[in-house]
Amino acid sequence: MSGHEGGRMVFRTAFLGVVIGAALLLGAFVLNARRPRVEVEQPSAAAVRATGKCAGCHRLETAAVVHEFELSAHADRGVTCLDCHQPAANQKSMDHKGFVISQELTSSNCAGCHRTQYEQFLRSRHAAPAWAAVRGVQDFTAEQVAFAERYHPGWIDRPANKLALLEGPSAIQSGCVACHDVGKPNSDGSIGTCTDCHARHAASLELARLPATCGQCHMGPDHSQVEIYRESKHGVLFNAQRSILNLKADPTTLSTADMFVPTCSTCHMSGLDGLNFTHDTTERLSWWLFSAISERRPTADQGETRMKELCLKCHTQPTVDRFYQEANQVVLDTNAKLEEASQLMAALKTEGHLTPAPFDQPIDFVYFDMWHYYGRTAKHGAFMGGADFVQWHGNYELLRKMVELREMARQLRSQGPDGGN
Ligand code: HEC
Ligand code: HEC
Ligand code: HEC
Ligand code: HEC
Ligand code: HEC
Ligand code: HEC
Ligand code: HEC
Ligand code: HEC
Repeated sequence: MSGHEGGRMVFRTAFLGVVIGAALLLGAFVLNARRPRVEVEQPSAAAVRATGKCAGCHRLETAAVVHEFELSAHADRGVTCLDCHQPAANQKSMDHKGFVISQELTSSNCAGCHRTQYEQFLRSRHAAPAWAAVRGVQDFTAEQVAFAERYHPGWIDRPANKLALLEGPSAIQSGCVACHDVGKPNSDGSIGTCTDCHARHAASLELARLPATCGQCHMGPDHSQVEIYRESKHGVLFNAQRSILNLKADPTTLSTADMFVPTCSTCHMSGLDGLNFTHDTTERLSWWLFSAISERRPTADQGETRMKELCLKCHTQPTVDRFYQEANQVVLDTNAKLEEASQLMAALKTEGHLTPAPFDQPIDFVYFDMWHYYGRTAKHGAFMGGADFVQWHGNYELLRKMVELREMARQLRSQGPDGGN
């Protein structure tokens, strides 16, 4: 074979090789295009380093989990899947593809690395009081009761909620508990969950600072905080300027340059311009606004001072003082209206017109709606800038329900001592 011919052979073979190679590549491309994106993309260096084998499988099994994780500060800082998923003290474990992981994750899986946040959270009403509001004291250990009663006397050691009991277990489980489990006592001895505000894998500050996140639970006619906020000047500005706020700012250096419009978390938690940043959402409050007749909290003066310090980062003293004065007056006037209603109910009871059982007469519901919907709405509206809620969803309804209540009382009395039963 001449060198020339040999050269042509080599050329032909090489040419054939290129064609076959191109065909293979094209074939692979066509095949790949039909495969899910996650199987084609290479895992990022961060995921490989941080999560190794877990991500290898879960990129195929639950791709969204791995993706959320990769975007998180945890992935950046080398926190691995197993750091959270390994069993914490007192947790039941299970074998999983050569690893030992926990059967149920709780706040305890975060507390190991975020002790301060956990301890602040434990002191808040998001912890034990939230669960006791539905289930009463029964699920807590003696130590848990003793601890939480120090901060919220009378709010843990109480009976299960009567309305919940009447509505039954499925209503409690998929209703009340879905919001109140933020403070559920877990089987490992810890309390509550951190993922209601941060999500499981995003571990996001931005998410926690969005009104809609708090609004998952803080909504509806009995606590319409998110609706009120949306209608307030603060909420309207937030929607308009959201894209230029720095919602990812570090909490330890958060300034009014990052957040020049407040969201729920700014007012109730953030350490704006050097203020104390806290997971104890109770710290800046002065009234028990959710009560039928609101009283000042034992820590009222401190709570009011702390919240006002926050307002003063963006407003002047006269604006803030005037706002508080007007809102306080709404609370006092709402109290007076509900005092009248509650005295009427007490008189009907003494006269024998009301049964001892809760929620078994129409008038029970009218009275409950008065304070639980309209009274609260007026008070919350006044403190968070929702004029329509103070007026049409609050005071107007209070007036209307009072007329209804008096008429029902008149009818019960006209039916004699056990009328209506
Ligand atoms: C060999 C593949 C593989 C590996 C490695 C692997 N997993 Fe899984 N994992 C799976 C599969 C498959 C499922 C079930 C998915 C389903 O049911 O949809 C699963 C389920 C889970 C669940 C849900 C369990 C439940 O009972 O609901 C968790 C949590 C989990 N894996 C975490 C991890 C963690 C953390 C790691 C690393 C320490 C890991 N996995 C490693 C394949 C794997
Ligand atoms: C910051 C802590 C944290 C990290 C890091 C973390 N997880 Fe999770 N993961 C959780 C929590 C909390 C849950 C909810 C568990 C529960 O409800 O019992 C969860 C649930 C899951 C589930 C079940 C999802 C479902 O909806 O059924 C899977 C699968 C899982 N994790 C896999 C992983 C993998 C893979 C990694 C790493 C890429 C990882 N996790 C990293 C905290 C974490
Ligand atoms: C192994 C330790 C570890 C565990 C477990 C852990 N974290 Fe973290 N977390 C970190 C580190 C490290 C950072 C980064 C700190 C920093 O940037 O200053 C962080 C940051 C955060 C941030 C701030 C994110 C940001 O964008 O700055 C949040 C929120 C958070 N973690 C929530 C959680 C939650 C919720 C859990 C439990 C489900 C959890 N963490 C479990 C170590 C951990
Ligand atoms: C998973 C549901 C849930 C989410 C999400 C949630 N909360 Fe709550 N929050 C509750 C419940 C339940 C209570 C009532 C606890 C009690 O008094 O029994 C509560 C009470 C409060 C209180 C009153 C505390 C007190 O001392 O009376 C404030 C303030 C508060 N939450 C702020 C927030 C903010 C701000 C966010 C978002 C960053 C938020 N919450 C997210 C369920 C939630
Ligand atoms: C949509 C979420 C959600 C559901 C569902 C829900 N709650 Fe609440 N609940 C809250 C929030 C948020 C507060 C805090 C209101 C406030 O402080 O203004 C609260 C406050 C309370 C309070 C007053 C605070 C306290 O500690 O006494 C009681 C009692 C209560 N809820 C019981 C229940 C019961 C019982 C059910 C079911 C029949 C239920 N809740 C259903 C979110 C919810
Ligand atoms: C009611 C909602 C809510 C709950 C529940 C919650 N957080 Fe947070 N968390 C926030 C908000 C809001 C911020 C950011 C506050 C700010 O600076 O504006 C934050 C910030 C953080 C940070 C960042 C701190 C820093 O200095 O970088 C960590 C870590 C954290 N939370 C951990 C936890 C842990 C652990 C739990 C459970 C014990 C938890 N969070 C429960 C709302 C919540
Ligand atoms: C501009 C600051 C500000 C914003 C924004 C704000 N709040 Fe408030 N919030 C207040 C003030 C002030 C009070 C009443 C304080 C007091 O009792 O002295 C209050 C009261 C509350 C209470 C009532 C607790 C009780 O006693 O019943 C809850 C719950 C609450 N806010 C949740 C939220 C949620 C959820 C959002 C966002 C949707 C939000 N707040 C937005 C300032 C704010
Ligand atoms: C991070 C900054 C910031 C904080 C904190 C803040 N506000 Fe504001 N507030 C604003 C901005 C911005 C406006 C809109 C001003 C304008 O119209 O230009 C506003 C508007 C108002 C208004 C006028 C509402 C209207 O309808 O015109 C009142 C009243 C008010 N805030 C009260 C408060 C109170 C009370 C607090 C504390 C509980 C507070 N704000 C906390 C930024 C803030």
